[in-house]
Amino acid sequence: MDDSYGKQVVLITGCTQGGIGHALAKEFAANDCLVVATSRSLASMEDLREDSRFFLQELDVLSEESLQRVVSNVLEKYGRIDVLVNNAGVQCVGPLAELPLSALEQTFSTNVYGPMRLVQAVVPHMASRRKGKVVNVGSIIALASSPWAGAYNASKAAMHALTDTLRLELRPLGIHVINVVPGGISSNIGDSAITRYNQMPEWKLYKPFEAAIKERAYFSQGTKCTPSEEFAKKTVAVVLQANPPACQARRHLTFRARKKRWLHVETTSWVC
Ligand SMILES: NC(=O)c1ccc[n+]([C@@H]2O[C@H](COP(=O)([O-])OP(=O)(O)OC[C@H]3O[C@@H](n4cnc5c(N)ncnc54)[C@H](OP(=O)(O)O)[C@@H]3O)[C@@H](O)[C@H]2O)c1
Repeated sequence: MDDSYGKQVVLITGCTQGGIGHALAKEFAANDCLVVATSRSLASMEDLREDSRFFLQELDVLSEESLQRVVSNVLEKYGRIDVLVNNAGVQCVGPLAELPLSALEQTFSTNVYGPMRLVQAVVPHMASRRKGKVVNVGSIIALASSPWAGAYNASKAAMHALTDTLRLELRPLGIHVINVVPGGISSNIGDSAITRYNQMPEWKLYKPFEAAIKERAYFSQGTKCTPSEEFAKKTVAVVLQANPPACQARRHLTFRARKKRWLHVETTSWVC
């Protein structure tokens, strides 16, 4: 086992360079943590390879086998996982009435079942030490549904609900659960969404909206989006608090989404 006494061991999913997970990995390392940075391919984290603060592992959140292998490697190396960050996620763009159900399934598999798979693998170890933190990366969009991204919005809303329940269920086991709720943060999310979008069938009813639908992939990546490093700095500072808050919302678009949510809730209440 490594000499890691006193340092927190942080396991993060989806650490591809250019994304939020990668920025979080660097920021946790800058805060004296030992970071298990994971992604689907080691090549996507090449810049971290020579830095001893990082333990790089390939992890596909859809694969139980890869997850069990990584958890067992980490426990063998460090003997514990102090913080689990469920960051890996995919955007999915397309009109719900025509979106292939396989795309809806894939989105939920990655954004909902993936994090839950990790929770179920890691929580027993945290519970045995009566100590740990689970950080789930949600989205502000879960609070304010918009057209063309229904599958993604729904997956994040499901994750918010699961996170809220986990918080209540894991607290008696000594585990904190934090819902991180980003607004628009610079990352690869738009480019990745377009790659998947290009594999979709041609829309029928929604053909005239093609340009607007495609544009939705980059909604969070406007000129005002928050740099991922800035987001990571604030998020890590909150997560490392002894008693972190339940929810951490950041940053561009969050006010607009909250306002929309408030209007929606108010209108619904009024109609009822
Ligand atoms: N950027 C924003 O404005 C924003 C806003 C709200 C919420 N979020 C959330 O923030 C998180 C990070 O996204 P991001 O913006 O940093 O996007 P990103 O740059 O595309 O990063 C997503 C990461 O998830 C990984 N991933 C996808 N499927 C995976 C799988 N099956 N197993 C393991 N890893 C997988 C990707 O790996 P590959 O490189 O191999 O595809 C990549 O490392 C996501 O949960 C996203 O929903 C982002």
